[in-house]
Amino acid sequence: MAKANLFLCMGSACHQMGVYDVLPQLQALIQKHDLGEVIELKGSFCLETCSKGIVMKFHDTRFSGISPQNVETTFEAKILPQIQAVLTDSQVPLPY
Ligand code: FES
Repeated sequence: MAKANLFLCMGSACHQMGVYDVLPQLQALIQKHDLGEVIELKGSFCLETCSKGIVMKFHDTRFSGISPQNVETTFEAKILPQIQAVLTDSQVPLPY
């Protein structure tokens, strides 16, 4: 079964804002929520909203303003519900 891609901008502005501190936290959050079988975390080139903090993208939705300090709360409040909605719509069974 193909995994859904969750993109994390690895461009130079996001790099300077701490994306390499965000990355391991995201990997841990994906494990914590048992999404490892359905979500593929991928690096992305600049997502073109560099002034808005670290940026992520899932399907057509962008999430900006991410930082090493707020990545967990942003993931659980905004990104996780979007992932669950898309996966539910596409009938991909969630592991819980
Ligand atoms: S470098 Fe991340 S949005 Fe441009």
